[in-house]
Amino acid sequence: MEYGKTIMITGGAGFIGSHVVRLFVNKYPRYRIINLDKLTYAGNLANLKDVEGRPNYQFVKADICDYDKIREVISSYDITGIIHLAAESHVDRSIVDPFTFARTNVMGTLTLLQAAREYWEPRGYEACRFYHISTDEVYGALELTRPDGNPSAGRECGGGPFGDDFFTETTRYQPHSPYSAAKASSDHFVRAYHDTYGLPSVVTNCSNNYGP
Ligand SMILES: NC(=O)c1ccc[n+]([C@@H]2O[C@H](COP(=O)([O-])OP(=O)(O)OC[C@H]3O[C@@H](n4cnc5c(N)ncnc54)[C@H](O)[C@@H]3O)[C@@H](O)[C@H]2O)c1
Repeated sequence: MEYGKTIMITGGAGFIGSHVVRLFVNKYPRYRIINLDKLTYAGNLANLKDVEGRPNYQFVKADICDYDKIREVISSYDITGIIHLAAESHVDRSIVDPFTFARTNVMGTLTLLQAAREYWEPRGYEACRFYHISTDEVYGALELTRPDGNPSAGRECGGGPFGDDFFTETTRYQPHSPYSAAKASSDHFVRAYHDTYGLPSVVTNCSNNYGP
C-alpha cells in the first residue's frame, strides 16, 4: 500500500499517546502511523488492542535516546511527521530519580530533533513537522485566588479551588520539579532547533489530561 505520509508518534503506548495513536490510525487510513515506545512501566500495548491489526499501524519498540535506532527508523519509514509524547511523566518519580528524567526528557528529545534534522534538512523541510508535547508545569504554579472554589457548584463539576489567572505563551518559564525542569529544557531545545536550523516545529504546553 502506498501511504500519503508516515507519522511517528513517540510514547504511543502511554496514557495520552495511545489515544492519539488510535485517533490517527482511524482518522487517517492513508497515513502510516508508527508508534515508537520503549514500553517502560508506563507503557502498555493492551491500550491499543483494537488497532494493532490495522494495515496502517506499526509498533516499534525503541528508546528515544538510542540515536542510531532513531535515525534508522526515521529513514527506513521515510518519516516526515513526529508527534513526540514519550517522556518520563510522573512528578513524584522525578524527585526520586532525576537522572532518568533528564536522560529521557532532555536527551531523548534532543536525539529525536537531531535525527529528524539529519533526515529532513537535505530533502527540504516542506511537509515536515516536529510536534512537541510539553506541559503547563514549565510555567510553575498559578495562585489559588479562590481556595474555597465556587461553593454553589459541586467539586465534580468545577466547584473546587481555582485561580483567576492563566498561563499564556509569554508567561516566563519557572519549573519547580525535576520533571518540569527537564520538560522545560526539552522545550528550549525544540525552539533552538527551530531558530538555529529552521526545523518546522510546534511546542504545546497542555494542562492535566483525564479520560479519553
Ligand atoms: N498526563 C498529563 O496530564 C500530561 C499533562 C501535560 C503534559 N503531559 C505530557 O504528555 C506526554 C504524555 O504523557 P502521558 O501522561 O501519556 O505519559 P505516560 O507516562 O502515560 O506515557 C509515556 C510513554 O512514554 C514511553 N517512554 C518513556 N520513556 C521512553 C523512552 N526513553 N523511549 C521511548 N518511549 C519512552 C512510556 O513507555 C510510555 O508509553 C508527556 O510528554 C507528558 O510530559 C502529560
